Amino acid sequence: MGEERRTILITGASAGIGAALARECAARGYDLILTARREGPLQALADELQARYGAAAAVLLADLADPEAPVRLVADIAARGLTVDGLINNAGFSRTTGFLSTDPAAHSAMIRVMLTAPVELSRLLLPGMVERGWGRVLNVASLAGQMPATGGDTLYGPIKSFLIKASQGLWLEMRGTGVHVTALCPGYTYTEFHDVNGSREQVSAAYPRWMWMDADRVARIGWDAVEANRPRVTPGVMNNVLAALGGLLPDALALKMVGGHAKRLDRL
Ligand SMILES: NC(=O)c1ccc[n+]([C@@H]2O[C@H](COP(=O)([O-])OP(=O)(O)OC[C@H]3O[C@@H](n4cnc5c(N)ncnc54)[C@H](OP(=O)(O)O)[C@@H]3O)[C@@H](O)[C@H]2O)c1
Repeated sequence: MGEERRTILITGASAGIGAALARECAARGYDLILTARREGPLQALADELQARYGAAAAVLLADLADPEAPVRLVADIAARGLTVDGLINNAGFSRTTGFLSTDPAAHSAMIRVMLTAPVELSRLLLPGMVERGWGRVLNVASLAGQMPATGGDTLYGPIKSFLIKASQGLWLEMRGTGVHVTALCPGYTYTEFHDVNGSREQVSAAYPRWMWMDADRVARIGWDAVEANRPRVTPGVMNNVLAALGGLLPDALALKMVGGHAKRLDRL
């Protein structure tokens, strides 16, 4: 990387895969801008990154469900005199209670946090990366975006499919600019995700240990992939088998098999 230190903005850095990616980037010599809604865990992580890796880490609070948040966040970053060399769109959550039992505001928030905010942040920050001839965009999608639809968490898979395809389009457009774009598609990963959506007990009972990965490993695979400019990466052999099978099955069979997911979680 030479003398100059580059700075990576990570959304959803207060927990799980986002925090793991922050540690991974800091270990590789990057500075960080950490954002999420909870200040305590962000500040603790910033202090840890400084102490362990000598990385500078700025903390900026933002609720990405707020339509104004992406523009405000980018303005706050500029006001601090910071430059964003890389963007990790990671913040996310799901609701597994079924379409009609989910508050419409939660649906809007899901779409804003995982779909609109990544698009807007990319549109705001990519011009600078292209101009400087160096950039990284890592979009944390999901294995769910590569699998057939599931009932219960109705919007989650489609939102993640969008992110995968949008990443691939951007990857094509960014070729030759020095900007790398990757969609990271984790399967079940140990984080706060299933505590937040209240399905921890059910998913632990329904899906055995071998189906789960640690956030650190997912982060390492994700950052390796964006450094190598792979348009999409799915961590773990089993997850790759599942993704391939998901694409091969005819719709009716796939929906019967995978569509039972939410039922197994006793959510419908
Ligand atoms: N865990 C899995 O099995 C799994 C599998 C595939 C994909 N993923 C994806 O991985 C990404 C990270 O999830 P995770 O598993 O690490 O979950 P997590 O531990 O629950 O972390 C989610 C992060 O998103 C942030 N966030 C949530 N709502 C937000 C909002 N309105 N505004 C700003 N930040 C918000 C949270 O921060 P605050 O609460 O502090 O705002 C937190 O830092 C998500 O996009 C998820 O869809 C997870």
